[in-house]
Amino acid sequence: PEPGWTTTADVVVVGSGIAGLTAALRLRGQVEKILVVTKDVLAAGSTQWAQGGIAAALGPGDTPEEHEQDTLVAGAGACDREAVRVLVNEGPEAVRELIALGTNFDHDPDGELSLTREGGHHRDRIAHAGGDATGAEIQRALIAAIEQAPEIEVVQHALAVDLLLAEDGGVAGLTLHVMGEGQRDGVGAVLCRAVVLASGGLGQVFSQTTNPEVSTGDGMAVALRAGAELRDLEFVQFHPTVMYLGPESHGQQPLISEAVRGEGAFLVDFEGTRFMQGEHELADLAPRDVVAKAIMRRMIDTGQPHMWLDARHLGKESQGSEATSGDGYRGASEASVSRYWERRFPTILATARSHGIDPVTDLIPVAPACHYASGGVRTDLWGRSTVPGLYATGEVACSGVHGANRLASNSLLEGLVFSRRIAQVLPGELRPLQPPAPDTRTPGLVPGGLRRDLQEIMTTRVGVLRHASGLADATGMLDKLAGVAAEVVDQESWETTNLLTISLSLADAAALREETRGSHWREDFPERDDLRFSGHFDTVMDDGVT
Ligand code: SIN
Repeated sequence: PEPGWTTTADVVVVGSGIAGLTAALRLRGQVEKILVVTKDVLAAGSTQWAQGGIAAALGPGDTPEEHEQDTLVAGAGACDREAVRVLVNEGPEAVRELIALGTNFDHDPDGELSLTREGGHHRDRIAHAGGDATGAEIQRALIAAIEQAPEIEVVQHALAVDLLLAEDGGVAGLTLHVMGEGQRDGVGAVLCRAVVLASGGLGQVFSQTTNPEVSTGDGMAVALRAGAELRDLEFVQFHPTVMYLGPESHGQQPLISEAVRGEGAFLVDFEGTRFMQGEHELADLAPRDVVAKAIMRRMIDTGQPHMWLDARHLGKESQGSEATSGDGYRGASEASVSRYWERRFPTILATARSHGIDPVTDLIPVAPACHYASGGVRTDLWGRSTVPGLYATGEVACSGVHGANRLASNSLLEGLVFSRRIAQVLPGELRPLQPPAPDTRTPGLVPGGLRRDLQEIMTTRVGVLRHASGLADATGMLDKLAGVAAEVVDQESWETTNLLTISLSLADAAALREETRGSHWREDFPERDDLRFSGHFDTVMDDGVT
């Protein structure tokens, strides 16, 4: 539709999680007019939901090199090594800046930053806040900083619809669908000199996900329609321990942080067997794809819809018992079990109890669910996409830092580090404000009501287990959905259209990758194929993951 209103800005930042707000704050003072647009309220994205924490080599004896090695191993030979080096080398300073901004991370009784462990890490290097409410605390601190920056304009309830492109194919602006009032309601256009996509992931492509409702792949779809390259879309990470609420449960599901295993919880099957032992040298703390696959295998072999997480012993450990992490919370006596849980995992405790499970006394039913898009808009080491003037950071972006499987708690860090980098180069690369070229794209909106059908197709055929025939069926079924025209142009239809665009690309990417690697699991190609899929991969390193 034709824009009903037009405005201008130097830079539009799309998204308001750690990546978007960091980019806006770091650009402040360097460019004049910054507009942050977010399609719900500021805190509605995935950052708010992050539990475990943020990884960086901050602990005594830890080094960026060790963090790099763990990241490369988890990435199953598909990481871009330079991007990983940037992440781990700049990570500690970026986290210190977050602390200076006012983020209250947890501390040990001796006053040191409290660091825990998660899957794939060989050291305690995950800083956390509020026990298991790290993302919420980071989001709070960033919003507080934005509120102190009146020169950054924020527009909430503003969905990014499409990029406006100039004659040279670069960015000229962005169209928005704003649920506002007065002058900025409905579809409008912002003419601008650069756009930073920081709009998060695509979890809502699947029926069960840890992602909030807003994670509908909008930024990736916008970039794709503008001609930007995407990469690694097939590497969708399934978190191993998502609370299983029954076969009918749909949409965002409760996450049971890997930090719970980091503190000593372990997986058992219905017979009580600790099936991660012998699967990997790190057992229950193996990289995420290894644990998710082991759970799925056990579910298939036993015909059960979930496995169990046993965390009942955590608060009961006595002083001096075998250490599982250096977090300083162990050692609670039996009498303080609940206090331990309330302090260390208050969010998980409250959520589990609200579903009738008490982790202090009960096993927690868990199954893998969609968690994170390791792929996204292709960027270089400075967040530049392949479209001039378009930058991407955070989950929407793919610098190659995660390879085929993101290492736990590297996602908040990625948003932080690469947004800082964008702010270093973007001011020197601002494009002139210029009129958009005529738009020849046909929008082809599908109705919002197709979302459940789409999610079902993706979950059953493009989910954890993939096979050529299922992938071909999925593409055929998705193509049919693409032929249904929306009668109403609203946020639901834009979002479902974006989900469909990304689902088709994801199914294509998954069909093309005829091997099993990281979070991409092909039943018909069960082995990793380093010879065929060298490409950008770091084939020389021995990452020890099969
Ligand atoms: C978790 O807390 O298990 C999630 C951490 C992450 O996704 O990095």
